[in-house]
Amino acid sequence: MKILVIGASGTVGRAVASALAQRHEVLSAGREHGDYRVDITRDDSVEALFKATGPLDAIVSTAGALFFGPLGTMRPVDFEVGLQNKLLGQVRLALLGQHVLRDGGSITLTTGIVAEEPIRHGTNASAVNAAVEGFVKGAAIELLRGQRINAISPTLLTESQNAYGAVFPGFETVPAVRVAQAYVRSVEGAQTGRVYRVWQ
Ligand SMILES: NC(=O)c1ccc[n+]([C@@H]2O[C@H](COP(=O)([O-])OP(=O)(O)OC[C@H]3O[C@@H](n4cnc5c(N)ncnc54)[C@H](OP(=O)(O)O)[C@@H]3O)[C@@H](O)[C@H]2O)c1
Repeated sequence: MKILVIGASGTVGRAVASALAQRHEVLSAGREHGDYRVDITRDDSVEALFKATGPLDAIVSTAGALFFGPLGTMRPVDFEVGLQNKLLGQVRLALLGQHVLRDGGSITLTTGIVAEEPIRHGTNASAVNAAVEGFVKGAAIELLRGQRINAISPTLLTESQNAYGAVFPGFETVPAVRVAQAYVRSVEGAQTGRVYRVWQ
């Protein structure tokens, strides 16, 4: 398969690209790194990306920023960070990407455990991750030509524990190589509209 991984330079994306590259042709994209440069917050940038890649068998997103901060001081502009980046950015990849996706192709987006297990300062993350999962469920029943869409919801990665462990007290971590297998399952499997939780 010809697979585009957006966010391939990140902690999650590196492991996903590496797992998929064992059996597939993987193209990488990111804001500053990768075979292709893209800003997922902009239609024109995403359209240019898909024009450059041409037809694909799978689109995988491991990109998307969120706002973390206390609810008491949060401003609407703070909340916009996750809406414009992780939510609309990934929705944009799916909406524009469906047209370059071959028959039977798949789209895999990234959410996260805080959709279901909230943490302090994580309201934006909880809301955005849940919204991405809603989009996946809705889109799955409307995609045409046998196309599929799933979401991967990882817990905190072991590799990210030093950076974010303090805000995830008592959460067990999973190694990136294990998280990557959920993406392989989404791309190579047959299911659609699923949220694969990687936290047990
Ligand atoms: N790490 C964890 O423990 C964890 C746990 C659960 C869920 N998640 C979710 O997994 C996703 C990836 O997390 P991560 O820790 O791997 O992040 P990361 O290490 O910061 O990597 C982010 C990746 O996304 C790309 N990117 C960021 N903004 C972009 C934009 N506007 N347009 C295009 N590409 C953009 C970056 O590209 P450049 O390098 O080229 O800038 C980079 O490749 C996030 O949605 C996060 O919420 C992570």
